[in-house]
Amino acid sequence: MLAGMTIALGATDVKAAEQFSWPAFFGPFHMIVLHFPIGFLTLTVLLELRAMLKPERNSRRAVAFALPITTATALVTVALGWMRAGAGEFDEHLLAWHRMAGIGVLFFCFFAWLVHRAFQQVPDSSIFRFGYRGLLLAAFVCLSLAGHFGGNLTHGSGFLTLNAPPALKRLLAGPPAESTAVKPAAGGTLYTKTVQPAFAKKCYSCHGPEKQKGKFRLDLREAILKGGDSGEPVVTPGDLEKSRLLYHVLLPRDHDDAMPPKGKEPLSPEEIVAVGQWILSGAKFD
Ligand code: HEC
Repeated sequence: MLAGMTIALGATDVKAAEQFSWPAFFGPFHMIVLHFPIGFLTLTVLLELRAMLKPERNSRRAVAFALPITTATALVTVALGWMRAGAGEFDEHLLAWHRMAGIGVLFFCFFAWLVHRAFQQVPDSSIFRFGYRGLLLAAFVCLSLAGHFGGNLTHGSGFLTLNAPPALKRLLAGPPAESTAVKPAAGGTLYTKTVQPAFAKKCYSCHGPEKQKGKFRLDLREAILKGGDSGEPVVTPGDLEKSRLLYHVLLPRDHDDAMPPKGKEPLSPEEIVAVGQWILSGAKFD
């Protein structure tokens, strides 16, 4: 069974290599370029604060210089973000918020720039002055939101507080979310006692509610039965041979298709046995 699968996976690799696409190539650069609008917009806001304290010509000129650069870098970042999102491995809901905030940055920067130009023509117009300051502030708020949602998209929402003091973690976590809640061991089933906690700890960061690498999520039964990118079921209840999930977790650690990927904590032998038993007994979620 393993040999057959290796051949099948090899064929997908060849297909993937043939399906070259420019957006897929450029998309990841979003992660690098996004630092420019962050830097430039922060700089613009600082320059504007200086201009408020020292309303002289040079201060206004500095803002006039920074605004178009900020807008241009935001435009490139949004375009690359669009290509990055096309890869389709992200939670739709989070992505929608991130996209909206990112476009907000571009939109507000662009209009702040236009209104600032008008302000330079008519320096004593308070409408223009407050107008572009408001737009700049709106751009900055959008930037913070885009950063926040973007961080959750790439790292999962626990990223920042992963190593926080336990008391702070409990405070921030609030009640556990329904899909990732680990139910008490007493009276639990094989799934709730062993399988689900193992998935939650070692797989959900890439196949959970927030992020779906390979378009695959492990926290919903329908999703497991349906499979991800490959379009084939990942688990066939009662049939170990036809359950590719088991194949992926059993591969040698340095194999390209091993799950979790190299460098991440693998499932323990006990957990793998539990996953096998769970599949045999019907892969139920309760
Ligand atoms: C660090 C991120 C990461 C972690 C953690 C991770 N995976 Fe994956 N997984 C991926 C990626 C990326 C793919 C897509 C691989 C590809 O398309 O070549 C994938 C694909 C899969 C697939 C194939 C889906 C399909 O439809 O072909 C299965 C099954 C899978 N993972 C199971 C698991 C299990 C079980 C765990 C936990 C023990 C796990 N993964 C942990 C990144 C991860």
